[in-house]
Amino acid sequence: MIKKGIILSGGKGTRMSPLTKAVNKQLLPIYDKPLIFYPLSILMLAKIKDILIVVNKGQLNQYKSVIPNGKNLGIKITYVEQDKPRGLPDAFILGEKFIGKNNVSLILGDNFFYGQYLSKKLQECVKLKRGAKVFLHRVKSPEKYGVAKVKNNKIRLIKEKPKKFVSDLAITGLYFFDNKVIKYAKELRPSKRGELEITDLLNKYKKKGSLKADYIGRGGAWLDTGSIKDFYKTSNFVSVIENRQGFKIACLEEIAFLNKWINKKNLYDAIKFYGNCEYSNYLKQLISK
Ligand code: G1P
Repeated sequence: MIKKGIILSGGKGTRMSPLTKAVNKQLLPIYDKPLIFYPLSILMLAKIKDILIVVNKGQLNQYKSVIPNGKNLGIKITYVEQDKPRGLPDAFILGEKFIGKNNVSLILGDNFFYGQYLSKKLQECVKLKRGAKVFLHRVKSPEKYGVAKVKNNKIRLIKEKPKKFVSDLAITGLYFFDNKVIKYAKELRPSKRGELEITDLLNKYKKKGSLKADYIGRGGAWLDTGSIKDFYKTSNFVSVIENRQGFKIACLEEIAFLNKWINKKNLYDAIKFYGNCEYSNYLKQLISK
């Protein structure tokens, strides 16, 4: 069982400057909550309770003022500061002590996932014992992502941001690894863009024949929050779904409550913490159910 998860939530967010000059991108709003709530909710839906959040040096207090230490959610949150972005696999080097002898999941702080049966799939993925698993999703612009070519249910090729078409299956920012990931991450060398690449890490697993793929499926959404336009599109998506159905996406306290990690008293505390707002009204509804 994977019981530990890492959220990589650093990055300069330069494509969204000046919005990101003072505030980290993952703390900007996707509709009614900070972006970081969404990837955190995915780990919580996978029933992962021990979480490390990698943040930029100097931005720790920003995070702690909205997500202190996880106690309010019945989980444990630890932070580690990164002095500069060195690529996704750096999460496993920075997180070596946190991971210990365990297997681990990684989610990127700016990735948004939504879909029916997603929780069930996630809870299957955390059963991983050996090897690695990625989530693939079909996209119109594969050149912006790491992609995987799949034949007969097997990953044949992995490439980071291919200039020439290889496959339209993007490798999303949600990964499950066995403990070898620490060793493999340390063996990597920076790519041309000067960073350690997750695709190089995945290729190590592929070479050993231990890389598996799962799919979000066409009924699910994997959205981008890279550019300002994408950010607003994702925000609109959340707004449409939430206002139509009356359910919130990524309400952390709701997930914790339904997982029985917190009780009604904790919900009252959360309402006090957030103050008089729509999010609190939603929590009030949960209490009265
Ligand atoms: C990173 C990974 C890429 C993956 C993407 C998902 O890209 O390198 O393989 O498909 O995240 O969001 P980057 O954000 O570094 O451009």
